[in-house]
Amino acid sequence: MKKTSVTALLLALSLSALTGCTSEKKETVSSPVSPAGSGTAESKTNSSNHSPNPAANSTTEGKTNSNEGALKSPADSGEANSATDPDTSKDAQHVVAQPESIAVLVNKQFVLPESYEPSDLVYPNTRFIFKEKVEKRKLRKEAAEALEQMFKGAEKDGVYLAGVSAYRSYTTQKSLFNNYVKQDGEKKARTYSAVPGTSEHETGLAIDVSGTNGKCAATDCFAGTREAGWLAEHAPEYGFIIRYPKGKESITGYKYEPWHIRYVGKKAAAQIAQKGITLEEYSRAIPVSK
Ligand code: DAL
Ligand code: ZN
Repeated sequence: MKKTSVTALLLALSLSALTGCTSEKKETVSSPVSPAGSGTAESKTNSSNHSPNPAANSTTEGKTNSNEGALKSPADSGEANSATDPDTSKDAQHVVAQPESIAVLVNKQFVLPESYEPSDLVYPNTRFIFKEKVEKRKLRKEAAEALEQMFKGAEKDGVYLAGVSAYRSYTTQKSLFNNYVKQDGEKKARTYSAVPGTSEHETGLAIDVSGTNGKCAATDCFAGTREAGWLAEHAPEYGFIIRYPKGKESITGYKYEPWHIRYVGKKAAAQIAQKGITLEEYSRAIPVSK
């Protein structure tokens, strides 16, 4: 073998070890550009020419050592749960190096470390469609404060929003996903529910929102409501984006969800909204098609 081929082979082997891709699938995606990881969208973005973030998603660049256990895919986890282990091998995956980044891209390709639990979860002082102080009422502090401002802003326009479901642990997402699989089969479930480890709800930066009567909570009839219209128009002013927009299913990997908003910070949200792009495009990650 030529020297250059040997070098290329060694390089490929090292990269594969660093990225922690699942062994079942050959890596078919590139990491987002500027994989440096770190800062928030606020600190990483550039107003003239969006120079994304997700960085946080880099699984290379020597970041992996700071993530104990992060190189395992959820499929490798051996989670002690009676529910079926979902088959995560269908998508080539990377474990994100900086799950705590406000700009983190989490999707079918970029997976949270299984043990990840945000350290600054709080209960936002906003209405929810339920009364209990439970896990799904929590958000990360920065997102919670932005949500409080957003709900106040909506009220000024006569729109009364309520939280439906915010933070979910890996275990909660796992039982939820498995229930959907039982209900609709895995193929269909994957179009609207995330395999555990790949849900933005696990970041504490996403929340499903409805009107106060909860009538169309996290269901298709939310589209076209006054609340959905208000969110689409104003959420970015508060740092949130509609994460799974209509017509972008082949990029996000999910059906349109007008109720699922994701906190990315004001600058990133403004750019994403202004350009009409997804977080995948903003992060310059390769589209997800499954
Ligand atoms: N419904 C979104 C995709 C989730 O399960 O996180
Ligand atoms: Zn959601």
